[in-house]
Amino acid sequence: MDSIKLNYDQIAHEYNQRYPAAQKWERGQALLELATGIKARTILEVGSGTGYWLNMLRQVTPNLYGLDYSMGMIRQARRQPAALHLSRGIGTQLPYQSGTFDLIYCVDAIHHFGDHRAFIREAFRLLKPNGALAIIGHDPHAADIPSWYIYDYFDTVYDTDLRRYPAGTSLLKWMEGDGFKDISSQTVEQIKNIHVGAAVLKDPFIKHNATSQLALLSEETYQNGLERINEALTEAKEKNQQIVFRSEINVKMFLGYKK
Ligand SMILES: C[S@@+](CC[C@H](N)C(=O)[O-])C[C@H]1O[C@@H](n2cnc3c(N)ncnc32)[C@H](O)[C@@H]1O
Repeated sequence: MDSIKLNYDQIAHEYNQRYPAAQKWERGQALLELATGIKARTILEVGSGTGYWLNMLRQVTPNLYGLDYSMGMIRQARRQPAALHLSRGIGTQLPYQSGTFDLIYCVDAIHHFGDHRAFIREAFRLLKPNGALAIIGHDPHAADIPSWYIYDYFDTVYDTDLRRYPAGTSLLKWMEGDGFKDISSQTVEQIKNIHVGAAVLKDPFIKHNATSQLALLSEETYQNGLERINEALTEAKEKNQQIVFRSEINVKMFLGYKK
């Protein structure tokens, strides 16, 4: 399982660097609107990491539950201002009683769960009537393929993502098959970051352990990717040109209700 190859314990202490205080996240806004709209009183995030989104949801309810595979991430989540109920576990076997939650969600995590459909089934079991499941993340299978320089310069990353991530169309089909109603998908955030020339080397997401995409690479494959970027920069400089490195990714929310 990727989650076992990928050691979130090792990166837990620096993970929150991706959430600078000044930044407003549209995916968070979408989550907040959903939780408020359904008047969620009990919420579970699966793959809850450092508890960033759960902490934000303390505006809606104090009954916030998080489950994560990594103890290191759970320890970081314990430092959030909100008093979170945190458990260690895997996304495909959720240790809660049926009919417990009004909202279950995951953010940037379903690709780690291995058996994506088992997670959806578990979520259905755990939701109360009228409860909602929201799966948030990017979809490398989508027609609006992410334009991400990491996919272009680092070998195997895009193919590995195609294998790890469920297609959004499959998520919707599985949700329907498992009994969810009013199923929908929408883009909730458009990431548009551009790095011009050598500035790309300062992109926090180019670090070997900043994302699971790069963390899964061997040191050799990672270094080959960096070398390819450096070669392209040198070549462009010789021609007096600047390369634009794009990170343009649509973050989607796949939503369904247990009616
Ligand atoms: C990219 S992080 C996202 C964390 C958080 N949702 C966020 O958006 O900040 C993915 C999280 O999934 C967790 N994870 C990996 N495999 C898992 C599994 N099989 N079951 C539950 N959590 C898992 C990792 O430990 C990590 O905290």
